[in-house]
Amino acid sequence: MSQRLEKIDNIRGTYDLTPPKSERWTILEDRLIEIVRAYGYQNIRLPLMEQTSLFKRSIGEVTDIVEKEMYTFNDRDKHSLTLRPEGTASCVRAGIQHSMFRGETPRLWYLGPMFRHERPQKGRYRQFYQLGCEAFGMAGPELDVELIQMTAKMWDALGISHLLELQINSLGELKERNAYKAELVTYLQDNKSDLDEESQRRLDTNPLRILDSKDEKTQEIVVKAPKLIDYIDDDSRAHFEVVCERLTKLGVSYRINPALVRGLDYYNRTVFEWVTQHLGAQGTVCAGGRYDGLVAQLGGESTPGFGFAMGLERLYELVDEHSSSPLPQPTPGDVYLVSGSEQQDYAWKVATHLREHPAGIRVIMHCAGGNFKKQLKKADKSGAPMALILGEEEEAKGEVSVKFLRESKEQVRLPLSDLPTLIKKELDASA
Ligand code: HAM
Repeated sequence: MSQRLEKIDNIRGTYDLTPPKSERWTILEDRLIEIVRAYGYQNIRLPLMEQTSLFKRSIGEVTDIVEKEMYTFNDRDKHSLTLRPEGTASCVRAGIQHSMFRGETPRLWYLGPMFRHERPQKGRYRQFYQLGCEAFGMAGPELDVELIQMTAKMWDALGISHLLELQINSLGELKERNAYKAELVTYLQDNKSDLDEESQRRLDTNPLRILDSKDEKTQEIVVKAPKLIDYIDDDSRAHFEVVCERLTKLGVSYRINPALVRGLDYYNRTVFEWVTQHLGAQGTVCAGGRYDGLVAQLGGESTPGFGFAMGLERLYELVDEHSSSPLPQPTPGDVYLVSGSEQQDYAWKVATHLREHPAGIRVIMHCAGGNFKKQLKKADKSGAPMALILGEEEEAKGEVSVKFLRESKEQVRLPLSDLPTLIKKELDASA
């Protein structure tokens, strides 16, 4: 007897999405995309690999992502490549490359895997999926509101609004932030010995991130620190006020969180995060903000931008475990077709007739032989609500027998031409 070879498993921090979860995941994606489209956003598909310099220049050299999380490698041509850790940089790169920004206001969305070498845990993966939106060429606050309100609509549609809190802040402009940084560093230097180790290190590299520290003692110091919002100039303040007012008018509740600074360097003015208490430590489901300097920073003509990205693993889990309107449990087929070995021609005819019917009926053909009993057992296991039985008699009369697998209803036999109407009626009744 030959020996079984050793199995090969997936890489740590990655996962497989298998049915039925993969099907429900697709339903979730479709619902999100429907909303994105309702706001006039168009799909952009971007490479998973980019030149490493793209992320260094956009996300920032001294951010966690660039310092310690990127999958960077030299390819066979000795080019330094990186698996994208996020989508904004690529989106801006593509927009510049294809002259999409000149006098235009493109609204774009993307969905796909991102890669970060983080310590895997619940809600944190090394390959994870983001749905993101990016919009360009609009400097006013209405765009900020459009994107934030769009995400609120998504939570409504998914029945999870009550589980999420919107936190917003304004980072002002770079020069305002630098003035603030200087004040913050002075304040924190006075308390340096009480800061956690990572924060002490950040004092020299990225002091704003200290505001994000989860360390309790550091948090106590941070609470009393100067607030960025007090340093932003009149224009930034007015912009932020319009965002807040408009959100209120639209019925989107929010909390201003002065410590919200985001972990990527490209932001200015409005930033936001949607946070939940229901997912443990990884509670940020969606995040984004304005990045008016990024296009110029990546070599394009100065063009304002605003966007967000949501982590689909976190969103799926929130919906799956806590939604007030759960995702349906999809079955692979509406009907399961069983037939005698002599009725194969007829079986193909029936299957084709239903699959091509405008009602869009999903048909699983048995395809595996065996007697009717065995086939019906498979039909039952498939989850399909009905089995279609094609025997000698049915074929002779051009009819089909319908067995209801999930209800105690009498089996019926009817002409093939009447079949789609009956199936549709049954499906609608159980929807
Ligand atoms: P981010 O905050 O790095 O922002 O990521 C956005 C979302 O992606 C997070 O809130 C989280 O839900 C999800 N996420 C991040 N890392 C992981 C991980 N390791 N495992 C699972 N989910 C994760 C950005 O990526 C920006 N590009 C967002 C943006 C778009 N800003 C403007 N436009």
